[in-house]
Amino acid sequence: MINVLKSYKELSSTVADIVEYQIQEEPLTKLILPTGSTPLGLYDELVNRELDWKHVITFNLDVYLMNVKHPESYQSYMKKNLFDRTNIYPDHCHFPFRPFSAFEDKITNSMGIDLCILGIGSNGHIAFNEPGSSFKSRTRVVNLSEQTIKDNSRFFDSIDDVPKQAITMGLGTIMESKRIILMANGNHKLNILNVAMNGEVTEDVPASILQNHNNVEVYYCD
Ligand code: PGA
Repeated sequence: MINVLKSYKELSSTVADIVEYQIQEEPLTKLILPTGSTPLGLYDELVNRELDWKHVITFNLDVYLMNVKHPESYQSYMKKNLFDRTNIYPDHCHFPFRPFSAFEDKITNSMGIDLCILGIGSNGHIAFNEPGSSFKSRTRVVNLSEQTIKDNSRFFDSIDDVPKQAITMGLGTIMESKRIILMANGNHKLNILNVAMNGEVTEDVPASILQNHNNVEVYYCD
């Protein structure tokens, strides 16, 4: 179930092939997109392929509760790494917003997500669904775990600057996607990836819920 690739370049280009094929087959594709360091190579690949994003609609998995203009906000990240480098319409790029029921309705009314790309946190989170999150969870405000704050402090001047809260899609929201790709880069992710994909399906390991989905692929490189 875990596809092991030879390099980060191969991880990025393999997932870019899947996204490219999806957009070519269905120009009106609806995507769920991640942030973090893992998808940076994927976004570079996609930009270089000069795809037509005119009809594509995106939903981001999560956002920090912080000033959206801050360079480390996920809105800034997506603009810098993907949106400003493609012909996607800004109005087609959605981030979790209040009221959360309206955000969820937007996903549902889009006729469903064709492809959801995920990363995995070192504690097994997907999006910001930290260990203990309900498998039925929907979009909501969450407190980030100490582990996540520590992991993400590398993007900020100090650990005190890392936002403590976020809005995240729920595990229930993510699981309604028609197809899910999980990307993991680096040896430090291998253990949690194995636990999530081959261990017990439990809310203590949020990514383990993916074992219950019938169209999931996992790509890993060390
Ligand atoms: P990373 O984050 O890509 O920066 O390792 C993954 C995640 O926390 O989902």
